[in-house]
Amino acid sequence: MEILIDQIQYRYPNGVNALADVSLRVAAGEQVAIVGQNGSGKTTMAKHLNGLLRPSRGRVTIGDWATDDHSVAQMARRVGYLFQHPDEQLFQRTVAAEVAFGPRNLGFAPQQVETLVAEALASLELTAVAQENPYDLSLAWRKRVALAAVLAMDTPILVLDEPTTGQDARFQVLLAQLLADWRQCGKTVIAISHDMEFVAAHFARLVVMHAGQVLRDGLTAEVVGETAVLQQTHVEPPAITRLAQGLTLPQTVWTIPDFLEVWRGNGRNRKS
Ligand SMILES: Nc1ncnc2c1ncn2[C@@H]1O[C@H](COP(=O)(O)OP(=O)(O)O)[C@@H](O)[C@H]1O
Ligand SMILES: [Mg+2]
Repeated sequence: MEILIDQIQYRYPNGVNALADVSLRVAAGEQVAIVGQNGSGKTTMAKHLNGLLRPSRGRVTIGDWATDDHSVAQMARRVGYLFQHPDEQLFQRTVAAEVAFGPRNLGFAPQQVETLVAEALASLELTAVAQENPYDLSLAWRKRVALAAVLAMDTPILVLDEPTTGQDARFQVLLAQLLADWRQCGKTVIAISHDMEFVAAHFARLVVMHAGQVLRDGLTAEVVGETAVLQQTHVEPPAITRLAQGLTLPQTVWTIPDFLEVWRGNGRNRKS
């Protein structure tokens, strides 16, 4: 299902122009990362995808649905949104109830709800805390619960607002696994992140935002090495990319294996 953001502007009621002019097309099954300094408009844009915010100007369509003509409840069938702050999202008394709320609300059959909830809990290693109150868990774990709740709705599109912020290494492993699963079953993913290592490792396409606009949209392989572009919005390339640049390697690299390959291929570590 294609996502089309067509020249949108958004002004908050207090007069802040959060989106100046944003256009973006994401094909079905694509996985795209969005980076940019705080306040660049990432969350505001993300909230347009499920109709939580409606553009002041321009249009957002998800498949054949314009968000202007559909309620947030309808959009929830197509777009799952993980809030940047889980406390905006969580309101049930147990983890299990929280995760079951979405699929139940979408009208899935009870048996299917049960399966979806069990799978979502298992894939985020939450089964043991299923009966706990989300608010008795740490912020990092509440974010896991919020992601499980999004997962359980089984939408074709997932929008994840800073899924990795404040999370531990184990969560990164689980998220990497989920991204691979979603790639295989053709789910579209848009993920906002400040973690360039994570972005570079998992996303082929990178969108850079700055001051309510898209500054750059391209292959991660290219954008990750564009230090000047990234600097404009206070994003640093991954450490390994900066090291390779410092050593003037002939190619942009963003993983350690790639670095080593280029380094060796370049003959710089051979004793002659
Ligand atoms: N609820 C709000 N009311 C007014 N202004 C807001 C609100 N939320 C965000 N903003 C402003 O909109 C701009 C974009 O914010 P946001 O979309 O949250 O950026 P990001 O997610 O990239 O950090 C910022 O100037 C921010 O202060
Ligand atoms: Mg944000």
